[in-house]
Amino acid sequence: MTDFIMTLPITQELVEKKYHLYHSRINDALGACFDRESPVTLYAPARYILEGKGKRIRPFLTLLASEAVCGSSENALNVALAVEILHNFTLIHDDIMDQAELRHGRSTVHKQWNINAAILSGDMMIAYAYELALLAKSNRHSELIHILNDANITICEGQALDMELEEKKDASINDYLDMIAKKTGRLISAALEAGGVAGNATDDQLSKLILFGDKIGRAFQIQDDYLDIMANNGKSGKIVGGDVINGKKTYLLLRSLELTSGTEHDLLHSVIINKGISADRIPEVKAIYEQCGVLAETAALINSTTEEALSAIDDLPHAEGKEYLQGFANVLIQRDF
Ligand code: IPE
Ligand code: IPE
Ligand code: MG
Ligand code: MG
Ligand code: MG
Repeated sequence: MTDFIMTLPITQELVEKKYHLYHSRINDALGACFDRESPVTLYAPARYILEGKGKRIRPFLTLLASEAVCGSSENALNVALAVEILHNFTLIHDDIMDQAELRHGRSTVHKQWNINAAILSGDMMIAYAYELALLAKSNRHSELIHILNDANITICEGQALDMELEEKKDASINDYLDMIAKKTGRLISAALEAGGVAGNATDDQLSKLILFGDKIGRAFQIQDDYLDIMANNGKSGKIVGGDVINGKKTYLLLRSLELTSGTEHDLLHSVIINKGISADRIPEVKAIYEQCGVLAETAALINSTTEEALSAIDDLPHAEGKEYLQGFANVLIQRDF
């Protein structure tokens, strides 16, 4: 008698179900981190940022990547936590650099405490993340540490480029794409790569997971920039239009400079020249974005980049695991916060 293995198509509903399940597992485990009471100004900020409404996208990808190469999510959990803690360290420091006052709808760490406490908690979180990675059930710890190091250094490069771009008057769309690959893409690809290592992937499988991560990372940051100004009131949990206020060179701004002329172009150009604009003028910038065609181009770019991501992992060994990764990439582009 032949055994038939039924493979169900992985619907969006199944992807969302798994996301909610793993989201809770990740949150429960994060809730047990940073349980020392003293010094309170060191540990309380770490607990505070992790209590926020983080989407847990990166650790979810770590767990899915392990499964997609026939490993277990259980063995990848500590690696997933390490990635999420590293991510949250970058958020704390990013909010200082961006002078952001709101994250997850609450005061940012440096506003709730002060800049020094925010710097120090972030520093401690890096070391804590590495300790967790070393606790992973794996005989490939040096690879895991190397991946986290590479991600960490690359994020710093990306954040440095982000600041340099603020000053640069003739920034190109390619400059922007290179910068976001570093500040955002690499941690997302590292989340997948590290999950792959935890699941004992081959080099070829790791390359595919990295490419998938690069692509969804690019789509993710372009969408983050879009939502920065377009998200419905308060849904992003950040200050609406913060990127324009700060004169950030996003795809929306750089491309709409090319698409506009006359007074509209002049207003956008003033954002570049003055390295930002006052908050009360955000509705004018938003109206230009809505009229000049950049929003449709942005959506098309997010979609085509995601398509490239999907095909990058088409022959990963565990069909169901691969479909969960692909399904989640499709869920991500529908997000509105
Ligand atoms: C925010 O990332 C920083 C970017 C790279 C755009 P997320 O949008 O994943 O942040 P949380 O973890 O859900 O808050
Ligand atoms: C995030 O870029 C990059 C890192 C956190 C490394 P943003 O500055 O756009 O992130 P948000 O919008 O503040 O979350
Ligand atoms: Mg920011
Ligand atoms: Mg930033
Ligand atoms: Mg942003």
